[in-house]
Amino acid sequence: MNVVRLQVGDIPTPTIHRDADELAQRHGFASVDAFTDSLSEHESVLDVGASLSTLGHAVTRRRSDISWTNMDIAYGDDADKNFSAMLRSMQESAPENLQYLAGNIVNPPAELRARSFGRVLSFWMLPHIVQRSHQEGLVAVSNMLALGTVGGTLSIGPLRSRSDNAGVFTIPASTEDAIALAVKVTEPWIGKK
Ligand SMILES: C[S@@+](CC[C@H](N)C(=O)[O-])C[C@H]1O[C@@H](n2cnc3c(N)ncnc32)[C@H](O)[C@@H]1O
Repeated sequence: MNVVRLQVGDIPTPTIHRDADELAQRHGFASVDAFTDSLSEHESVLDVGASLSTLGHAVTRRRSDISWTNMDIAYGDDADKNFSAMLRSMQESAPENLQYLAGNIVNPPAELRARSFGRVLSFWMLPHIVQRSHQEGLVAVSNMLALGTVGGTLSIGPLRSRSDNAGVFTIPASTEDAIALAVKVTEPWIGKK
């Protein structure tokens, strides 16, 4: 696990990036291979707050039919030269079906809103957003659900405490169900330090 410190708004956010196998495990799979095998043909995957995680690289190297997007607010920030250099190197070595997109999940870029993803992933981003603003945490989860295809999945974690893995939720069809799910996922982090 590697740590770089970035300033996101007023709060320094550690961009810890887990390697591919660790992240696949935190999303509930035994390994990257098991995670990759679970994806349907031509599935689109969005990793929100991906930082410099190597999961997208590992999967797109194994499967050319998968379209993978790593999205992070930090990709638009050139303040940390070390982070920028590592990001550039990962972008240069990325397979064609892996895209890096700078953006804030609280207000996703139009390019992202125009698309829909069968699998939305996010690990160790929500607690940072909730720490800045409870309301933004709810909006972030609602936006992740809106970016998912109905019947697809949102895998988001940790769920309640630092050591938890991600929880996997089916993307609901109705706005009411999406709001209820956003509250359920966000609530355990409210008030936590
Ligand atoms: C602790 S890192 C986790 C990285 C990776 N998901 C992992 O588990 O290894 C949290 C990441 O979330 C990103 N982030 C924080 N707030 C965000 C937001 N509003 N929109 C998009 N990314 C955000 C940070 O820039 C940081 O790279």
